Amino acid sequence: MGAMKRYEALAADIEASIRNGTLKTGDRLPSVRLTGESRGVSASTVFQAYYLLEARGLVRARDRSGYYVTGGGLRDAPPESTHTSRPAGGPLSLDVSGQVFDILEASMSRKVVPFGSAFPSPLLFPLARLGQFMAASAKSLDPWSTVDDLTPGSAALRRQIALRYLAEGIQSPAEEIVVTNGALEALNLCLAAVTRPGDAVIVESPTFYAALQALERRGLRAIEVPTHPGEGIDLGALEAAIAAHKPTACWLMTTFQNPLGSLMPDAKKKALVELLARHRLPLIEDDVYAELYFGERRPAPAKAFDTQGLVLHCSSFSKCLAPGYRIGWASAGRFAHQVAREKLTTTLATSVPSQLALAGYLEKGGLDKHLRKLRQTLALQQATFAQAVGHYFPAGTRATRPLGGYFLWVELPARANALEIHRKALERGISVAPGPIFSATRAFTHCLRLNYGHPWDSLSEQAMQTLGRLAGEAS
Ligand SMILES: Cc1ncc(COP(=O)(O)O)c(C=O)c1O
Repeated sequence: MGAMKRYEALAADIEASIRNGTLKTGDRLPSVRLTGESRGVSASTVFQAYYLLEARGLVRARDRSGYYVTGGGLRDAPPESTHTSRPAGGPLSLDVSGQVFDILEASMSRKVVPFGSAFPSPLLFPLARLGQFMAASAKSLDPWSTVDDLTPGSAALRRQIALRYLAEGIQSPAEEIVVTNGALEALNLCLAAVTRPGDAVIVESPTFYAALQALERRGLRAIEVPTHPGEGIDLGALEAAIAAHKPTACWLMTTFQNPLGSLMPDAKKKALVELLARHRLPLIEDDVYAELYFGERRPAPAKAFDTQGLVLHCSSFSKCLAPGYRIGWASAGRFAHQVAREKLTTTLATSVPSQLALAGYLEKGGLDKHLRKLRQTLALQQATFAQAVGHYFPAGTRATRPLGGYFLWVELPARANALEIHRKALERGISVAPGPIFSATRAFTHCLRLNYGHPWDSLSEQAMQTLGRLAGEAS
């Protein structure tokens, strides 16, 4: 593991005391003040630690009287996955789209229990409040903004996005930001800006299937590099892959990677950027989940360590605020101009009223309050889902415990066949995302990605029970 944050170290300490029986079910944790004093840390660090323990199901807050050990999370959560993936070496031509489309299409119905979905529940978002900003932006639309706010995008929105970068200590002037139709367009435009058909591109193993589809669409080859479920891509393996295969770009997620949920420590992000700079390799950084962190603050993107303009940072509001508005962006450093050109020649521009609605919301809609609640909801749902996996899935199952986002990556015993589980689960009205769609080699045959972004109810409980049974039969 890399350097732990203070609150993580404190939470790990307390968790160890619970595991070794020093703290027993029903015990009250010392007050925040006392713990802060005895450990020499601030009250907010203690709160974060208690909060993390609560998210993990180990303790529960009782109104005003403090935190109590529940023991529930201990009994149930599966052991954490710790194995770095070992993909087969060289660049791969891609032929993944057909299978991915089939699997995702079958999972889209509203009637299906959405464990395989890529989206959190749409009910977690302030859609009514956004609607007010949408109405206001349409009503007071300056006719000239329909011309002025085309590519690279609304000045007001780009300023709001630039301000959010600034709050993170990142210099990303509004001029470098191109507003896009969701992060997916941003990623595709960046890929077009830095590659030519036939090139090889580094991706994680496993990786987001849409990355593989984007490479396939552009006639690019994928180099899948070993990736750790906690700390992201293996830098030694990355350097070796660069030397062996001469890629022209990397497409990575350094924060809450889809599907692993891995979070690269800051020092590793810095080392990654330095390594790529030595090879003058652009990094397309997909950062759509960063706002969904459970810790103290938003993890810095790799872009924060970029001094050469080589990181093309892509994100959107789709996962944290406004699903369906299709507003994303790229802050593409030295490639900003090329990305704007790609935008002009592909989709020309992004819907102006949607951009203005988001600019208005960011300015005075209450984003931070919404995000605090969303993060808390997701952290608690993760604990519930992880416990259910531990409870219902066969012995030998492992799962990730990401510090943000809304995916669990579940590793079943090696004999399990995720595609078969997917098929049988779907017959019973339950979707899962089977491991093989996350790799061009169709590896990860015993893995599933489960979405915990939907509220837990009796239907989820039944579905998890069924899934555990199917996994048990297949293992
Ligand atoms: C890792 C990742 N990147 C990008 C996207 C696409 O984002 P958007 O909906 O903003 O296009 C998704 C959505 O599923 C995703 O999971």
